Amino acid sequence: MAAAMLELRSVTSGYGKMEVLHGVNLTVKEGEIVSVLGPNGAGKTTMLNTVFGIATLHSGKILFKGERIDGLKPHTIVRLGIGYSPQLDNVFPNLTVEDNLLMGAYMRGRDPEIRDDIKEMYDLFPEIARRRNQKAKTLSGGERQMLAVARALMSRPKLLLLDEPTSGLAPKAASTLMNKVMEIRERGITILIVEQNVKKALSVSDRAYVLVSGRIVKEAPAEELAKVELDKLFFSARAEAE
Ligand SMILES: Nc1ncnc2c1ncn2[C@@H]1O[C@H](COP(=O)(O)OP(=O)(O)OP(=O)(O)O)[C@@H](O)[C@H]1O
Ligand SMILES: [Mg+2]
Repeated sequence: MAAAMLELRSVTSGYGKMEVLHGVNLTVKEGEIVSVLGPNGAGKTTMLNTVFGIATLHSGKILFKGERIDGLKPHTIVRLGIGYSPQLDNVFPNLTVEDNLLMGAYMRGRDPEIRDDIKEMYDLFPEIARRRNQKAKTLSGGERQMLAVARALMSRPKLLLLDEPTSGLAPKAASTLMNKVMEIRERGITILIVEQNVKKALSVSDRAYVLVSGRIVKEAPAEELAKVELDKLFFSARAEAE
């Protein structure tokens, strides 16, 4: 069995004193694509923010490759090998595409391989290669999401956290992006993805968790969850939580 890349053990967290997650247990194994599905306000973003050291951990543990990372600052977490493409503010709008990618590698200092990695990102995302000198704010929604993912990859993560990478995208652009997610996994990167786009997320995932009102209410292989009427599950789990 593959080793655990990321483990959340009884994680209770939120913002300041406010509690958003109530005892979340979740594991992502090396090489997996795992998605977390749930309605608006369920705590999906908060979960990623907790892993990344942005939200406040109240109790529980977070382990990355078997070592505790809870309590560490985001810049340390990046250095350890976790990349994060957030839901909002995920690019620097007034910087060019290329400068955004350079910013994604800032912690690597003067690493001469940064240039090679930028070229690799352009191979993976030809859509943004054409726009390398364009400011990020002038990109289309799909291009911007690709830039956000590419920027997160510039730190050479072992684990990539993606928060709603297909949000606001037309079906075709969303499929293109999900195909890139599979390509990224083929490069040996483990992926935890948060999505509202249930079908698209399940189509690329190995396993998925359902998060409702700050609690995991289901965990199953993706093909099994694809048969579940998730809207009903969201609704009933929410009613139970209230
Ligand atoms: N920075 C913050 N400070 C205080 N409360 C917050 C903050 N961010 C989120 N919250 C609250 O935490 C709860 C969970 O929000 P979160 O963003 O994690 O949900 P989500 O599942 O990502 O929803 P969505 O699908 O809409 O992105 C919400 O009630 C929200 O109002
Ligand atoms: Mg969110």
